Amino acid sequence: MYREICEIPSALERCLDGYEKQKLPPSFCRKVRRIYFIGCGTAYHSGSQACVSAQSFLDVDMRPVYASEFLYGNYPVDNGTLALCISQSGETADTVRAAEKALAQGARVCAVTNTLPSTLSFLCQRCVDIRAGGEYAVASTKAYNCQLLTLLLMLADVAAAQKKLSPQKVKKLYEGALSLPHAAEKALLCQNEIARIAHTAAQSSAVFFLGRREDYPTAQEGSLKLKEISYIHSEAYPSGELKHGTLALMEKGVTAVIISSCSDLVEKNSAAAKEVQCRGAE
Ligand code: F6R
Repeated sequence: MYREICEIPSALERCLDGYEKQKLPPSFCRKVRRIYFIGCGTAYHSGSQACVSAQSFLDVDMRPVYASEFLYGNYPVDNGTLALCISQSGETADTVRAAEKALAQGARVCAVTNTLPSTLSFLCQRCVDIRAGGEYAVASTKAYNCQLLTLLLMLADVAAAQKKLSPQKVKKLYEGALSLPHAAEKALLCQNEIARIAHTAAQSSAVFFLGRREDYPTAQEGSLKLKEISYIHSEAYPSGELKHGTLALMEKGVTAVIISSCSDLVEKNSAAAKEVQCRGAE
């Protein structure tokens, strides 16, 4: 898992290169009125995060849905619906069945996967390979990053095809994307600090991940990773929900990780950090 985390910068580079050759054709993107991001676990989180991030530039009805919920729920689908079915392996049964359901209901269905060929890639009308490279560890790490990057580029293309994003803004978005491999490299340089925090988390009775807007799906993903790798009890909440009950669990021996990547929300997040600290949590 550690090796695969260290491969994130090069995986992102490969993903960027690969996407250029796999762009969705404008005909597939035009008249899309609704987008579902369908997946399980980490794949659901990347969809969830892409959905929140794209709200700033794509004015379309967008919803992340757990594949297992899509199967049994009544989600409206018509020919203006685009279902993005996200799966690292391309074989997760619920995601495959959700893609089948969306196809049967007349949606345009596109697989976003790391595995070609796979059941999902065969099934869907279109398929984008995220090119993260082999992911063998139990926890999905580099695939998450490449799923998110691919989804954002796809959504920028949908916005451009619908003339909701000017060519200049698309260019800016792409420039931002090009800087990601280097940003990931820089993040990996914080390893000593991360190890120190991990030491505290390892002694905790529970770890809470908190974030707002784009940072909330990151919090959910962080929490899932911690649970499955360390068996430590962990939950994710939108920071603003703290005061509606969860604050009661903040006490000595508990760690809260507050994700704060949006400059306009720093103050709000600092307030959440203070509330947590006042209760004795780390
Ligand atoms: C978490 C993890 C799982 C998978 C989920 C979906 O680290 O690996 O939550 O993300 O089982 O798997 P795929 O993406 O193969 O459909």
